[in-house]
Amino acid sequence: MKNKHLISIHDLSAAEVAEIFDVASKMKKSPAKYATALKGKTLGMIFEKSSTRTRVSFEVGMFQLGGHALFLSARDIQLGRGEPISDTAQVLSRYVDGIMARTFAHKTVTDLAEYGSVPVINGLTDLLHPCQGLTDYFTAFEHLGRLKGRKLAYIGDGNNMAHSLMYGGAKVGMHVAIATPKGYEPNPEVVELAKADHAKAKTTLTITNSIEEAVAGADVVETDVWASMGQEGEQEKRVKDFAGWQVDAAVMKKAKKGAIFMHCLPAHRGEEVAAAVCDGPQSVIYDEAENRLHVQKAVMYLLMGGRKRKH
Ligand code: CP
Ligand code: NVA
Repeated sequence: MKNKHLISIHDLSAAEVAEIFDVASKMKKSPAKYATALKGKTLGMIFEKSSTRTRVSFEVGMFQLGGHALFLSARDIQLGRGEPISDTAQVLSRYVDGIMARTFAHKTVTDLAEYGSVPVINGLTDLLHPCQGLTDYFTAFEHLGRLKGRKLAYIGDGNNMAHSLMYGGAKVGMHVAIATPKGYEPNPEVVELAKADHAKAKTTLTITNSIEEAVAGADVVETDVWASMGQEGEQEKRVKDFAGWQVDAAVMKKAKKGAIFMHCLPAHRGEEVAAAVCDGPQSVIYDEAENRLHVQKAVMYLLMGGRKRKH
């Protein structure tokens, strides 16, 4: 992998994404072969926001690779008391071999990469969630067998998940359609970059306010919460603005027959998704959650200089 960091899927080539998927598949199949791949290495994990999957999958992943992970709540380290990010990045780089960070501002993660000297992995920012985006396409690959020419429809808020799925589709040869209510469209700068990525990949990126248009012919239907972390104060307003935007059985019926349903979790059943869909036969939500582990192990292995056991 040429990239030193994983900050945005936009920065990766299609070949690098394929390499991550290939290593993740091998690790999922034969985890023991990689039991000492990152022996003696440490990952520092900075969290400004809550997490279940990201925290546990990275920590367990480092353990399974023979390394160690440190949970660093931003509230408890000096960063939370105003120590500059540049100092934090340089100091941590003297101790650890990689940094994973979940932050509000995207700039915090890019600054960690700029000032530190070790690989930085974006564990979610207000702008992007690349580990989840990669994992979702990996999960789709496992279920659909082939991704090229397929279509993913994302219904809901034009948020970090929408952005990472927009970037990811172009790297795996999938058409992407994002449907949001008016006023909740994805970030225009991300749309512009993702449109260029899709044009290069000869796939389409559709941004629409129509659920029907997005799900028509979709092999994958995905949604996410209406109010992301940091937007708790807007919850009530958003519930009103997103009325009619639930992914329910009727929406799934408009997608391709046999389409799969994905959600990065945590999910709010009865809001963005009906329980019957989230817990129904088309849902692959727990495969997605599990695959965070395998995909992130592959990312850490490729970025942090992992070595496979010879025997
Ligand atoms: N999907 C995801 O990133 O979950 P957590 O917020 O629990 O880490
Ligand atoms: N969009 C959600 C994703 C959570 C994994 C958030 O940022 O809170």
